[in-house]
Formats: sequence, structure tokens, C-alpha cells
Amino acid sequence: MNELMKGKKGLVLGVANENSIAWHIAKKLADEGAELAFTYQNEKTGKYVLPLFESIGSRFYEIMDITDPENTKMVMKKLDKHFKGELDFVVHSIAGGPQRGELSGKYIDTSREGFTQSMIISVYSLNVVLKETRHMLRGRNASVIAMSYYGSEKVVTNYNVMGVAKAALESSIRYLAADLGEEGIRVNGLSPGTIKTRAASGIGGFDELYDYTSKHAPLKRNVTTDEVANASLFLLSDLSSGITGDIVYVDAGYNLMGIDLHKEAEDVRTPVEISI
Ligand SMILES: NC(=O)c1ccc[n+]([C@@H]2O[C@H](COP(=O)([O-])OP(=O)(O)OC[C@H]3O[C@@H](n4cnc5c(N)ncnc54)[C@H](O)[C@@H]3O)[C@@H](O)[C@H]2O)c1
Repeated sequence: MNELMKGKKGLVLGVANENSIAWHIAKKLADEGAELAFTYQNEKTGKYVLPLFESIGSRFYEIMDITDPENTKMVMKKLDKHFKGELDFVVHSIAGGPQRGELSGKYIDTSREGFTQSMIISVYSLNVVLKETRHMLRGRNASVIAMSYYGSEKVVTNYNVMGVAKAALESSIRYLAADLGEEGIRVNGLSPGTIKTRAASGIGGFDELYDYTSKHAPLKRNVTTDEVANASLFLLSDLSSGITGDIVYVDAGYNLMGIDLHKEAEDVRTPVEISI
């Protein structure tokens, strides 16, 4: 165990199971000495996540559906009490909203419900959490991160309304960073490459996307959740104290490619597990 996050208290939203990006980030933060509180979506998720939370000795985990304002207020009040009004970081790793069939086919067919829910769950939820925790984060050189994806800036087949939501999330991150900077609260985004998780499995043709990315990324592979966790640790720790409102790509360089005419590598490299 190292001690980069020793003495820091943080809230993690978005663990659904052991593959969740949020869980890998949480483990890394716990290894570095952070004290963690978790919220999870619903009772059904509980059976997968409670053993995880207990395995790192967390003493605060509550169901919080981000679409339910009363529930959110109540849980954040409990958190305030639990952490005695002090919070040093927030990990926002939740996305959702598209209706059945909207992560395949054409974006133009997105329903009103799918559009608004995607904005509420994947974008406005960051505002909601920050409104409720701002007084705890204030004056503590606090850091907040949220997860975006490359489909925010370029068209990725089937990503559809989630791409539009991620574009809004990235913009939202910049506005929140500007609003909260004078209170000593930094807000940044991470943009991971493709990773096999439950949310990803809902995207039509995800396996092809995963394969395509590994062939065309400069590093000729996909990233690991551990690599995303390492970058998260940097953004949540004081090592990144001069950075706010930024979107950091952790995608084996995929985002910089335009047209790639090189012959596809036959032997695509497998992700390397690097632990620091
Ligand atoms: N997996 C990838 O390839 C990838 C790439 C880039 C960005 N991301 C982003 O990373 C984040 C985490 O996703 P993941 O891939 O770890 O998948 P995941 O399925 O493990 O996590 C998604 C989380 O969102 C939560 N959620 C959805 N609706 C909610 C609601 N109403 N209230 C509370 N929580 C709710 C789910 O419970 C789940 O924990 C998402 O923002 C996703 O868009 C994922």
C-alpha cells in the first residue's frame, strides 16, 4: 500500500459489479489509503456490489438512484453525517438512459424519452451530486472526475444518443470547473477506450468496436481498467492540482487517429497489466 490518498475521503458512484470501471478506480484509491463511500443503483445490484465494498472495509454504501431527487438528497445527507461534512473527491462513473434498441440503428430515431433520460442520468446527474456535496468539497483542494467517451466528438456507429450525452457531459465538466474553481474544487473528465463492462455490452456491435479499436489505436491494443484507474488516481490526487476542466484520454491513443491506411496488424497486442 502506498499513501497518495491517505487522509482523503471520497464518494464513488457507479459500481455495478467487479468489471465496473468505478470498482477498479475504487480499489486503486483504497490501496492508496483513501476512505471510500459508495452509492449503487438498486437492490438488484446489491448482491454483486456489497461483497466488493466490504472487501475494502468501506463503512458507507447506500442505494441511490440518480433519477430520484428525494432519494439522492436523503443519501447525500447521510453521507454528510458519515464523513462529518468533509469530502475530498467524487468519482462519477454512471451512464444510462437510452431506450431499447437506441444503441443500435440510427441516431435520428432516438425517442424523446431516450434523449431526456440519457441527459438526466448521464449528464445532469453530475450537477445533482455536486449540488448536494459542494459544501463538503469546498476549500479542501477537492477533485471530481466523470467518465466520457470518444463518441462525444466523432460519430461512433451505434453509440448514438450516448455520444450526444457525452458531448454534453464534457461541456458540463468545463462549466462546472469554471463555477467551482474559486471554491477549490477541480472537475475533470476521463475518456477511456473500449472496456468490456455491463454498460458496454448494451452497445450494438460492441465486440466489433473493441476489436476495431485495438487494431487502429497507436498502441495496437485496448486499455485495461487498471490503466484507467491509474489515470483517475492522478486526477483525484494532489499530483494534478493545476488541472481542471480537462478531458484526459486513456485510450491507447485511439483518439488521435484520422484515416489509418496501414495494413491491420495481424497479431494485435493484448492489454498489458501494469500495476503501480
Ligand atoms: N466500458 C467502456 O468501454 C467505457 C468507455 C468509455 C466511457 N465509459 C463510461 O464509464 C462509465 C462507467 O461505465 P462502465 O463501463 O464501468 O459500466 P457499468 O455498467 O459497470 O457502470 C455503469 C453504472 O451506471 C449506473 N447507473 C445507470 N443508471 C443509473 C441510475 N439511474 N442511478 C444510479 N446509477 C445508475 C449503473 O448502476 C452502473 O453502476 C460510464 O459513464 C460509461 O459511459 C465506459
